[in-house]
Amino acid sequence: NYQAVIFDLDGVICHTDNYHYQAWKQMADREGIYFDESINSRLRGVSRMASLEIILERAQRTYTAAEKEALAAEKNEIYRQLLMNMSPADLSQDVAATLRQLKDAGVKIAIGSSSRNAKTILRQIGIFDWFDAISDGENITRSKPDPEVFVKAAGILGLAPSACLVVEDADAGIRAAHDGGFHSAGMGDACGNDEATYSIIAFHELSDIVLGKRMQNGPV
Ligand code: G6P
Ligand code: MG
Repeated sequence: NYQAVIFDLDGVICHTDNYHYQAWKQMADREGIYFDESINSRLRGVSRMASLEIILERAQRTYTAAEKEALAAEKNEIYRQLLMNMSPADLSQDVAATLRQLKDAGVKIAIGSSSRNAKTILRQIGIFDWFDAISDGENITRSKPDPEVFVKAAGILGLAPSACLVVEDADAGIRAAHDGGFHSAGMGDACGNDEATYSIIAFHELSDIVLGKRMQNGPV
């Protein structure tokens, strides 16, 4: 049994990939840099500046640190405008019901996200005050695959990593959990990641895992 579950946000609790894509795409088009959905999928779980570096691999020229800051700020402005389209309708029934079930069973729930916009997103979808701890891009200095964001979340909860389950859709997040001493459940892109303790297809599978009714994957 786990005493807490630490959820990644983007790709786990809700889906912001397409907004990230649209915002980076506008910036890239204006700079004349090639960018597509497959490059966008490499940005999953990666911090804003590290994402920009990946996009700039296709640039025709080099950019100064100040120019990079400006490009990242431009993208974030567009992205934040798009986030205003999000509402409680973006919270799936499966996610909402599972979170409630865990809370009712006395399991603590937390967010462990690299995003600096995590709190805005949680407010937009109406679940900001459901969480016992929020660790995000605002309180970390090292992005996933560094375990810092999850270690800080466990710290806020006052729990050891071994008492917490991390839920992630990115390989970088599964690595971060593993290196921080956390068990993890991989879903979406990270379903089948062999460093994950469990693989899940549907969110509600977490109830059985957390309440101790389901076995781990094979040897990890
Ligand atoms: C999450 C997303 C990434 C994003 C990162 C930073 O990890 O999966 O795609 O780059 O957050 O987001 P931010 O909102 O701070 O730009
Ligand atoms: Mg994610």
